[in-house]
Amino acid sequence: MVTCMKVISGAGSGRPSPESLFLRHPPPEEGVGATVNANCPTQASYEATFAHNFWKQMLSRVPAIPARTELTGKTVLVTGANVGLGFEAVRNFLRLWPSLVIMGVRSVDKGEAAAAALRREFLDARIEVWELDMESFRSVQAFAARAERELDRLHVAVFNAGLGKLKFERVDEGGCHEVTIQLRPTTSLSEPGRLSIVNSGASLGLSLEDPGDGRLFDSFDRPEKFDGFGQYGLSKLLVMIFVAKLAQKIDPKEVIVNCTDPGATKGTSFFRNVNWIMSIVLRAFLGLIGRLTVDASRIYLHSTLALGEESHGSWTDWIIRAWPKTMYTDEGHQMGERLWDETLEELKFAGVKEKL
Ligand SMILES: NC(=O)c1ccc[n+]([C@@H]2O[C@H](COP(=O)([O-])OP(=O)(O)OC[C@H]3O[C@@H](n4cnc5c(N)ncnc54)[C@H](OP(=O)(O)O)[C@@H]3O)[C@@H](O)[C@H]2O)c1
Repeated sequence: MVTCMKVISGAGSGRPSPESLFLRHPPPEEGVGATVNANCPTQASYEATFAHNFWKQMLSRVPAIPARTELTGKTVLVTGANVGLGFEAVRNFLRLWPSLVIMGVRSVDKGEAAAAALRREFLDARIEVWELDMESFRSVQAFAARAERELDRLHVAVFNAGLGKLKFERVDEGGCHEVTIQLRPTTSLSEPGRLSIVNSGASLGLSLEDPGDGRLFDSFDRPEKFDGFGQYGLSKLLVMIFVAKLAQKIDPKEVIVNCTDPGATKGTSFFRNVNWIMSIVLRAFLGLIGRLTVDASRIYLHSTLALGEESHGSWTDWIIRAWPKTMYTDEGHQMGERLWDETLEELKFAGVKEKL
């Protein structure tokens, strides 16, 4: 999944030097859209290990959101909000009194059913259900156009929608595997807009295979290479690489963009497509180490409300973590450059390059 953000002014201050893209440590003092990541490659290797993630899940508790955090007067968007982490994130945001919460869903019926439950719980809340199918450029563009028409400002957005598929499938629109969303924050900002894109620890130890003369995207379009959960992890890796690069083009005074990782979570519909044997195994595993959705989705609030400008371009939960370890290597860096160029090429029809 690739996500793209449209900004309307002041983004970017010239192309950063190649070595500054991923290998930057410590963070630079200056530069619009400077990517900040307080962790080093050694930390990345450690954080990619099963042992680290196992113990992080078992021993750490997701902290409470800082006292006095509130969203009065603000608009929040969560995609994939009808079930699982997205639904519970909406509930967590509603506890902070936003003016409006938009649930981005691909099935309006399912979304309305979920919203009805929340409206019963939060009687004064303004909750709207907007259609958004992330597999369709047309749907994403229609969603963005609606946001431009109807919203003065979008303050907080969490792009949570996502699935792991076990079977190779192409989406309807021209075999594209990328999805895009466009957001337009307003210029007169008293504080930056916030965008967090949901990632997964499944990507931390992975790297992108060099496709030689071919396109990186095409290397994901081969049924014979498809391995279900592995490809899910790679798609999340693409997102992190893209976000790190995107952060260099966007002034964090306008929008702070980062990735957020809820960690292994039980009680969602994520494994809806697995067979019954796998389902039993996964349920048992998540029963042991998985977080409750109420806790895991609180991480989205940390990434969008508690962490600040220092998280721009970073992998976050309630603190800034290391990027996937490949991002600290020359190969990873080269793949990142290709990914960026291919993505902008893919999104040419939407004029994304010009807007960045
Ligand atoms: N559960 C975990 O352990 C875990 C760990 C790390 C990261 N994550 C990430 O957390 C996010 C939420 O996962 P979850 O566990 O809450 O799964 P979930 O319960 O299955 O929820 C996924 C949500 O995404 C929506 N969605 C899927 N494809 C979409 C599309 N093309 N367009 C619009 N919406 C779409 C689903 O809508 P429908 O109901 O209509 O299908 C649903 O609302 C995902 O990005 C996942 O990768 C999960």
